[in-house]
Amino acid sequence: MKNFETRAIRTQMERTQQREHSTPLYLTSSFVFDDAEQARAMFAEEIGGNVYSRFSNPNTSELEDKISSLEETENAFATASGMAAVFASIAPFTKSGDHIVSSRSVFGNTHKIMTELLPQWDISVTYADIRDKSSWEKAIQKNTKLLFIETPSNPALDVIDLEWLGNLAKENGLLLVVDNCFATPYLQLPVKFGADLIVHSGTKYIDGQGRVLGGMVAGPNDKIKEVRNFVKKTGASLSPFNAWVLSKSLETLAVRMDRHCDNAEALAKHLQGHADVETVTYPFLDTYPQRDVAIKQMKRGGGLLCFEIKGGVERGRKFLDALNMLSLTANLGDTRSIVTHPASTTHSKLTKEERGLVYVTDGMIRISAGLEHIDDIIEDIEKAFAATK
Ligand SMILES: Cc1ncc(COP(=O)(O)O)c(C=O)c1O
Repeated sequence: MKNFETRAIRTQMERTQQREHSTPLYLTSSFVFDDAEQARAMFAEEIGGNVYSRFSNPNTSELEDKISSLEETENAFATASGMAAVFASIAPFTKSGDHIVSSRSVFGNTHKIMTELLPQWDISVTYADIRDKSSWEKAIQKNTKLLFIETPSNPALDVIDLEWLGNLAKENGLLLVVDNCFATPYLQLPVKFGADLIVHSGTKYIDGQGRVLGGMVAGPNDKIKEVRNFVKKTGASLSPFNAWVLSKSLETLAVRMDRHCDNAEALAKHLQGHADVETVTYPFLDTYPQRDVAIKQMKRGGGLLCFEIKGGVERGRKFLDALNMLSLTANLGDTRSIVTHPASTTHSKLTKEERGLVYVTDGMIRISAGLEHIDDIIEDIEKAFAATK
């Protein structure tokens, strides 16, 4: 099965004697052993098979097979949320006294792991700047074990040259972890550029319909074995129901991502040069500073865009309230278009200076372009501009 779309649909668990066409749901906490000897051998890991759904379940296994096929890695492990995946991509590979270099432009709770949790176990973190390659080189120390990056970043949509970062990791013998949540494997394959582990919040585009939480870590067999053992022990495994939803959702990822990209790109072009807009950020726009890097490593520009509204924070908030259709909600990657004002919500706990360091400006509005008709998305935005003049 060569093509992405086909693998996303046809990676499926073995059919049961019921001859079902679509994957059934295995809502069971545990599995029955044929006899005492089989129980012993399974616990001793001498033979494979499902024992307990915190370890494995047919639905989570199908999702893991599918995501590793799509990310082109040997293996994958499914977790209860994207944050569980982020933590499971770091914790098994670091110990007291180790050091991590992370992009400063990471999701809020990843930032909390880096700055609050890891230091509790004497694992130190140095932040590097996604726009400044030399800051990565300077941050590496003798005890550095791991590099962590999100590209494109949330919410400013910066990208880093993954090939360059992959080489830096290799030269220094470091593990490279890439949060591929914004691009999805349909638009970007970090493993091709030297990533060791790829992390996902399945809650975003993989579900794509705003229903369930979930996460995944994809990578080589030896590393995923460690991730699996860590989560098995600590408990943040994915529920079979959520795995079933996410695996079904992946069947339509390619068509959905193409439409998300069509709408985001059309909206970005509509807003470029608009009388109510200072600047527009979208990775494939002519004006995007790292366009050559985005084009090198991404198939299309993605489903998110940012713009700076004229009139700063005050107008930004009024604009949000004047929208009729676009949703104000803490998610992205949904069929429904979503609008966020990072300075007054997700990044409000940072000082203005700290926001500046992650390139979040006061008037920045982030839009997750949904799958509604583009004319209706634009009409809603135009009406909100008009109402806040
Ligand atoms: C880039 C990125 N990584 C990780 C996460 C965490 O995912 P979850 O909410 O599924 O735990 C998010 C959530 O917004 C995210 O945007």
